[in-house]
Amino acid sequence: MLHTNPHPTLIESPLVEIRGLAAGYRGARVVEDVSLDIMRNDFAALLGPSGSGKTTVLRAIVGAADVYAGDVLFRGVPVGRGGRARPRIGYVPQLEAIDWNFPVTVEQVVLMGATRSAPLFPWFRRSDRLRAGRVIERLGLEKLANRQIRELSGGQQQRVFLGRALVSEPEILLLDEPTAGVDIKTRDDVLHLLDELNHQGIGILMTTHEINAVAAHLPRVICMNGRIIADGTPRDVLTPDVLRETYGAEMPVTEYRGMTLVAETPHRFGAAARNGSASGRAANGHVHGDNGHVHEDASAVSHADA
Ligand SMILES: Nc1ncnc2c1ncn2[C@@H]1O[C@H](COP(=O)(O)OP(=O)(O)O)[C@@H](O)[C@H]1O
Ligand SMILES: [Mg+2]
Repeated sequence: MLHTNPHPTLIESPLVEIRGLAAGYRGARVVEDVSLDIMRNDFAALLGPSGSGKTTVLRAIVGAADVYAGDVLFRGVPVGRGGRARPRIGYVPQLEAIDWNFPVTVEQVVLMGATRSAPLFPWFRRSDRLRAGRVIERLGLEKLANRQIRELSGGQQQRVFLGRALVSEPEILLLDEPTAGVDIKTRDDVLHLLDELNHQGIGILMTTHEINAVAAHLPRVICMNGRIIADGTPRDVLTPDVLRETYGAEMPVTEYRGMTLVAETPHRFGAAARNGSASGRAANGHVHGDNGHVHEDASAVSHADA
């Protein structure tokens, strides 16, 4: 479906460097010992079960999680501190994290991304409006520009928040579950759009819990569960051993027409993942509440098969 070989670029230094990171919230460590480099030509999936710390890694990159150890650098400069120029990182939150009762139009959401460059001027400049207009056109949202965002479909909402991130002309896009809860066609549209942006030189790191439908199609997959378990091509990373460690469940892997396919067995998956994850975390001294995990895991499987 997507280009499996990253496009060639000159050897260069990483956009984002994460070194020995421990991060979480209010003293509770959610991820530990995370080291990752994200390059400008990367198109990578951060894959793991619910509660494995995927969102926390993204938040740490934008300086929105507490850091207890290690470093997060953007172009060699620590993120989130000091009065330096804002790093050009576009963040697309999970749709679930957005307050849909807030009355705001598509154009207003996209424009919000533009004010980042001029935080002292809370009104919009002409150049901001022009840039927002171009992004709206680029994403095919012209006809929806004056609509309230809560009236849109999931796929359209996803594009609006992608627009908000793109208007700041980011060098890297971080997307939290951009394919969760959308239909197959929309999921493919989102992935192709991201692939296109990647080929235009934007590094992409997105979280997902969809193994076959999403992760297996990207050039790079990073499996995690509180820590990084494997990082590489889908073929190298999506193995029974890595998946057992990531999900705490037996997940047979097969090949079909050169594509890696993972058998996701919902019943064992939900229970085993919870037990596996709880014991794994207990060993590290971090046991978290896991309300709703079975439900989320089951829906992950049905999305993939929908
Ligand atoms: N804002 C927060 N405050 C406190 N704990 C949080 C917060 N966000 C997430 N957590 C905890 O961190 C753990 C991992 O969360 P998260 O990074 O969101 O995982 P994932 O995105 O892989 O589902 C969860 O168990 C959750 O309880
Ligand atoms: Mg998350």
